[in-house]
Amino acid sequence: MSSASISSSSRKRLAVIPGDGIGKEVIPEAVKVLKAAAAAGGREVALSEFDWGADRYLRDGVTLPADAVEMFHRDFDAILLGAMGDPRVPTNVHAADILLGLRFKLDLYVNARPCVLFDKRFTPLKDRSEKDVNFIVFRENTEGLYVQMGGNFKKGTADEIAIQEDLNTRKGVERIIRYAFDFARRRGLQRVCMSDKSNALTFGHDLWQRVFKQVRAEYAEIEASHQYIDNLLMQMVRDPSQFQVIVTSNLFGDIASDLGAQLAGGLGLAPSGNIHPGQVSLFEPVHGSAPNIAGKGVANPLGSILTVGMMFEYWGWQSEADAIDRAVRAALKEGKTPGELGGTLGTREVGDWVASSISKAGVSR
Ligand code: NAD
Ligand code: IPM
Ligand code: MN
Repeated sequence: MSSASISSSSRKRLAVIPGDGIGKEVIPEAVKVLKAAAAAGGREVALSEFDWGADRYLRDGVTLPADAVEMFHRDFDAILLGAMGDPRVPTNVHAADILLGLRFKLDLYVNARPCVLFDKRFTPLKDRSEKDVNFIVFRENTEGLYVQMGGNFKKGTADEIAIQEDLNTRKGVERIIRYAFDFARRRGLQRVCMSDKSNALTFGHDLWQRVFKQVRAEYAEIEASHQYIDNLLMQMVRDPSQFQVIVTSNLFGDIASDLGAQLAGGLGLAPSGNIHPGQVSLFEPVHGSAPNIAGKGVANPLGSILTVGMMFEYWGWQSEADAIDRAVRAALKEGKTPGELGGTLGTREVGDWVASSISKAGVSR
């Protein structure tokens, strides 16, 4: 495919924040694949790298610079982030400022976390196959227990009190639930399950119940169900095939998406998007900085690679996203995998294999 005529939608500006630990190992592989897929499709991505993370914070105290949000709105189409978290920063303050800060300040209210089993060999569930694990978790991403409202009183004494508020707004709950239904409608899916803990959280999650009832009435063709979060997690293991779209609160979505990732083969395979429709959005693998394996060159880069695919899809670059999807499936099929998936390849070798497979196969429109 010729790259002679690049339309404006074929040229995107991407901010890259590798972050900490294995973020610094998997993101270069994702970028390698991004370049291969963009070139194969005649697209252009202008990359700018930012060194924000624990090293930078420990060196000069910078976490998220004051002008970052304005800059991203003005100069970028998306952000690709690795992971934030470092044992040398036990407060996790840099991760809160950078990762949660961007989610909140860019108002990225949809955290989309697909849990799709590509090959039945990779699920830990007995007698389950590709058709059984194919759902997406929509996690509310700007509210809930994550808003850092609260505080300590008499900290460090025997009388200490710690308060962490759970913030739920009608607008916030409604827009994520509506997004889940709209997604289902767009994709021709039949089922949306909302999960909360309204039997115990009788104020905040009662709001979720009431908003859910109101919104579901507008989507009569979609089967809307509800499960309490404790039951939902059990049901995900017992019979994941019942789920197509799950929508839930910030903390519950965090937990459900790690479980979902493992059902689909492992945390290292799981992609995600932090999205505000129509605005600059942030894409990252679901996993963290994995200090236990960082620096060894063994981390699975496929989650970050699939994350690039999600970002391309967000940009409307469907053929390039499909090319990435096909190459990842081929890597899994041919055993070109890292240790997490039972293979012997290192992080870089997996990235090389996927990139060259895309370059060889090209992009089909
Ligand atoms: P983690 O996701 O970093 O690791 C959990 C387990 O999964 C570890 O055993 C790790 O080795 C394994 N793992 C994760 N990603 C892998 C990959 N790509 N390939 C192979 N194995 C992989 O979670 P954790 O250990 O709870 O947290 C470590 C640090 O990361 C903490 O500081 C935490 O706050 C942070 N964290 C950051 C993010 C993020 O930036 N989005 C997400 C989760 C955790
Ligand atoms: C995630 C992570 C973050 C979260 C942490 C690092 C604050 O676990 O992206 O899933 O809880 O959102
Ligand atoms: Mn998490």
